[in-house]
Amino acid sequence: MKFKIGFDQNDKKKLFKYWDEIIQNNIWSEGKFTKEFEEKWSVHNELSTVSFSSWAGAAEAVLKFYNLENKKILCPSNTFQATPMISKLNGSIVKFVDCNKEDLCISYKDLVLKVKKYKPKAVWVVHIGGHISFDIEKISKFCKDNNILLIEDCAHAHGASFKGKKPGSWGDAGIYSLYATKTISTGEGGLLVSKNLNLIEFAKSFKNYGKPKNIVPGRNLRMSEFSAALGCIQVERLKDIVEWKNNYVEKHMSKYTNNLILPNGMISGRYKFIVFEKIEKSVGKVYEKGCHKLFRDKEELPNTDWVNKNHWCVPLFYKGD
Ligand SMILES: Cc1ncc(COP(=O)(O)O)c(C=O)c1O
Repeated sequence: MKFKIGFDQNDKKKLFKYWDEIIQNNIWSEGKFTKEFEEKWSVHNELSTVSFSSWAGAAEAVLKFYNLENKKILCPSNTFQATPMISKLNGSIVKFVDCNKEDLCISYKDLVLKVKKYKPKAVWVVHIGGHISFDIEKISKFCKDNNILLIEDCAHAHGASFKGKKPGSWGDAGIYSLYATKTISTGEGGLLVSKNLNLIEFAKSFKNYGKPKNIVPGRNLRMSEFSAALGCIQVERLKDIVEWKNNYVEKHMSKYTNNLILPNGMISGRYKFIVFEKIEKSVGKVYEKGCHKLFRDKEELPNTDWVNKNHWCVPLFYKGD
């Protein structure tokens, strides 16, 4: 199965019609498709949404809104380097936390220990591989009880849910990536979701040089109308993509007995299909190395080291062959 972007060729006609409309109406940014994409994602995710030109832009808006400069933030080591890097770039002090072997996501047990040790202001959870962190309910309650901000990195989690709840709804904010390899994509782009309407208002202004009120500083992190039009089509296609992938898993993946098992009530968006045995046809690993190693941090994280060594991904691409 060759890599294939999650785009249905049947959507081309509609996409070209939208792009034609954008060219005709001469509004290439800040137009109706950006608004429509955000509204569609809001309905899907059941949270207010702001679109961005990148995941990093959306993450920066969150870090700035919550004043996390010079504050400690806990981050799983088993993530893409973007998560700790954007935190460091915005002046936060990053401390790494171990993951679980079962879900590859941040470990509640290690998180509790690291909260005691470092007294952080915020915590990142990264929903690795398309499913929700198995510990998310415990982590969310723990963060609330201890007055710690919880930020969900939803870069892999499009279309996932746990007991009917969608990514971004356990924490103070969630951030999706729309990069070219993701479950749905606009080539490049990001989405911020949150129930905190003050954050949403800040983010809208932050991505647009502080406009319209000129109270918050900001820069250009806007999404173009062409990307947003593609986003509109992709949101409508998401249900089909996730169903297709889950059906494929049911039909063709039963031979992988040593795979990542989801708990009851969890639907994975199936960004990746993860197994804990070396397989012949693998598309590699989610991450080869933990961020504690990439960033030359001295923290000892045995589960992260184990996971990096002992998991592989089976090819799983929407309508792939
Ligand atoms: C977990 C995670 N967070 C953040 C990002 C950054 O997203 P982007 O590449 O869209 O900036 C990625 C990218 O793949 C990711 O996997």
